[in-house]
Amino acid sequence: MKKITIIASTLILVACGGAKIIAISQADVDRAASKYPGITSEQLVEGQKLYAANCAKCHSLFSPGRFNEKRWNHEIDVMSAKDYANIDAKTKESISKYILTFAKQ
Ligand code: HEC
Repeated sequence: MKKITIIASTLILVACGGAKIIAISQADVDRAASKYPGITSEQLVEGQKLYAANCAKCHSLFSPGRFNEKRWNHEIDVMSAKDYANIDAKTKESISKYILTFAKQ
């Protein structure tokens, strides 16, 4: 039987209607892995943390389910290019994988 792991993340909630904490389940990891083979729950949690740490400097966090993949790819590109954002390629990739796993279909 497949072990169902619920990872309670330790995200600090950003006030004012920011994104809710998403508890990452095994089903989420499986869905992510169909797109990013071999991705682990730890990597998704890491992306979630990096999202909170890097993307709430100028505004509150947007829920990943708010936009579809195409729109998110665009927003993440634009945001990562901002000087003050200071997001390196690796961090951007990790954030993208997390957000896109929960993007609107
Ligand atoms: C340097 C400040 C800054 C940082 C850091 C930043 N943003 Fe933004 N964000 C903005 C500004 C300013 C806007 C308004 C549109 C614009 O000027 O580009 C915006 C708009 C957005 C929007 C569009 C919302 C809408 O309704 O159209 C999204 C989505 C977004 N940001 C996501 C992110 C993500 C994801 C990150 C982290 C990778 C991030 N932002 C980091 C400043 C920032």
